[in-house]
Amino acid sequence: MSTVTPVSTSTSQRKKVTTLTFRQKKERGEPITMLTAYDYPTAVAMDKAGIDSILVGDSLAMVVLGYENTLSVTMDEMLHHARAVSRGAKSALLVGDMPFMSYQVTAEEALRNAGRFLQEAGMDAVKLEGGRDRAEAVRRITGAGIPVMGHLGLTPQSIHQLGGFRAQGKTASAAKILLEDAKILEEAGAFSLVLEAVPARLAEYISKQISIPTIGIGAGAGCDGQVLVTHDLLGLFDRFTPKFVRKYADFHTEMNKAFTQYIDDVETKRFPAIEHTVEMTDEEWNEFISKK
Ligand code: KIV
Repeated sequence: MSTVTPVSTSTSQRKKVTTLTFRQKKERGEPITMLTAYDYPTAVAMDKAGIDSILVGDSLAMVVLGYENTLSVTMDEMLHHARAVSRGAKSALLVGDMPFMSYQVTAEEALRNAGRFLQEAGMDAVKLEGGRDRAEAVRRITGAGIPVMGHLGLTPQSIHQLGGFRAQGKTASAAKILLEDAKILEEAGAFSLVLEAVPARLAEYISKQISIPTIGIGAGAGCDGQVLVTHDLLGLFDRFTPKFVRKYADFHTEMNKAFTQYIDDVETKRFPAIEHTVEMTDEEWNEFISKK
C-alpha cells in the first residue's frame, strides 16, 4: 500500500437514480446505462463515471469466481459481493441478481431471498430470469415493495434447457412467446426488462409494445438502455468474449504485463527501490547496534 497522499476524489454527490428515473428516461427517449460490478473499487469508479445502474450479476460465477456457468453461485456469495458494491456506489440504482434456485421453488422463497438483497446487501432492486413461469414470483416480490427487473431471451440459468449460450427469439413462434412474456412481466409489476441475445428488430418491437424500459445486451440499439458484463468490456475475462461485446480495454493483457514486470523487478532486485523503503535515523540505528 502506498503512503503517498491520494489525489482528492471527492465530487458532489449525483442524485440517486431510482426506478422512476428509469421510467422518465424511457419517456424522454434517453438511453439508460447499466454495467455489472462485483466489488467496491469497480462500483466507486462506475458511480463516479455517472452510470445509471449497476447490476451485481450472477455472471459473478463465471467472470470472478471461475465457475463453468452461472448455476453454481449461491445467495451467500451474491450477497457478499452485493455488499461490497453498495459500499462503493451511492447514486446508481443497484440491482441484485437472484441466483439459480433462489426464486424458482416457491414465490415465498423468492420473496424471502429478494428481501435479503435489500435488507442485508443494500440493493435497490432485484433481477430474475424467465417469463410466464416467474409471473407469480414477480407479483409476490413487487407486492412487498421490492422492484423487480425481468430477464428474457438468452437466460443463462437455463443453458441446459436452451442447449447452450444461444441467441433466442429467432423464429416467428419464439418471437411471439417472447413478446407475450414481456407483456406478462410488465403486467406482473416488473419495472424493467433485460433482453439478452435476441434479434434487434424483435427487441425494438418489444420495447415499443411495453411501457417499462428494456435493457438490451446483444439485442441491438432499439432497446431503452444497454448493459454489458464489465469483465467483457474491460477485456478481463479471458475464456471467451461474446460477439455483441465492444471491448473498451484489454486489462487481461495489461495485468499480465504488470505481473511479469513485477516478477522481473523483484528477481533482478530493481524493486523495492530507495523511495519504497522506510528510513531510520543514524542516531537510532547506532543506538540499536551498540545495545545489541
Ligand atoms: O449476470 C449478468 O451479468 C446478467 C447480465 C448479462 C444482464 O444477467
